[in-house]
Amino acid sequence: MKKLALIGSLLSMAVAAQIGLAADKKGVADDQIGLSKTSVEAVPDPQVFEYRGNAPFSGQVLPRAYQGAPPQVPHNLEGFIPITRDSNACIGCHQQPAMIGKKSKGQPTPMPVSHYVDDKASAMNMGRYNCTQCHTPQATVKPLVGNTFKK
Ligand code: HEC
Ligand code: HEC
Repeated sequence: MKKLALIGSLLSMAVAAQIGLAADKKGVADDQIGLSKTSVEAVPDPQVFEYRGNAPFSGQVLPRAYQGAPPQVPHNLEGFIPITRDSNACIGCHQQPAMIGKKSKGQPTPMPVSHYVDDKASAMNMGRYNCTQCHTPQATVKPLVGNTFKK
């Protein structure tokens, strides 16, 4: 009885595989597999794009994607990146513990208390040192894939 059941399920697997093959006969063209619509053999240069042109202090901020999302960088990062062990320009403007919770338009938003080691903001949490890991500058580019995310 067990053997019969096994043969039965093997048969149905074979039939399913056949149906799958028939549907997939054309396959996916090799220039449609990845996000860059070129042959998988090609090594195309990445598309050149420019970040938003405004320097800090233009007074612009971008909408948050959802509550708790890291805000996107609204200004360009010319001269501020790469962030290295010895140089982090972001901290120079954004590490202002005394300003936390105080609104001041056109001034650098102070890094929130979550970016410090304690709720007195006595020292920066070094896990937050590499700002651009979470806060990304923005450019006007066509998304590679559509996004249906809703808040
Ligand atoms: C010269 C000062 C300065 C430097 C350096 C700087 N910023 Fe800013 N940043 C600002 C100001 C001012 C604003 C407020 C918007 C404006 O007026 O441009 C801001 C806004 C932001 C915001 C948006 C905050 C919000 O409330 O939505 C983020 C995120 C940010 N900066 C990240 C960074 C990162 C990351 C770096 C380093 C790569 C950096 N900034 C370097 C001055 C600076
Ligand atoms: C591991 C991810 C991560 C890193 C690294 C990081 N941040 Fe953030 N940041 C966040 C998130 C998430 C928020 C929003 C939630 C919150 O307030 O903690 C935020 C919020 C902010 C805000 C907005 C504060 C407000 O009151 O609205 C500023 C400004 C900021 N970060 C600056 C920085 C700077 C400057 C650095 C680097 C020195 C940095 N962040 C590093 C994740 C990060």
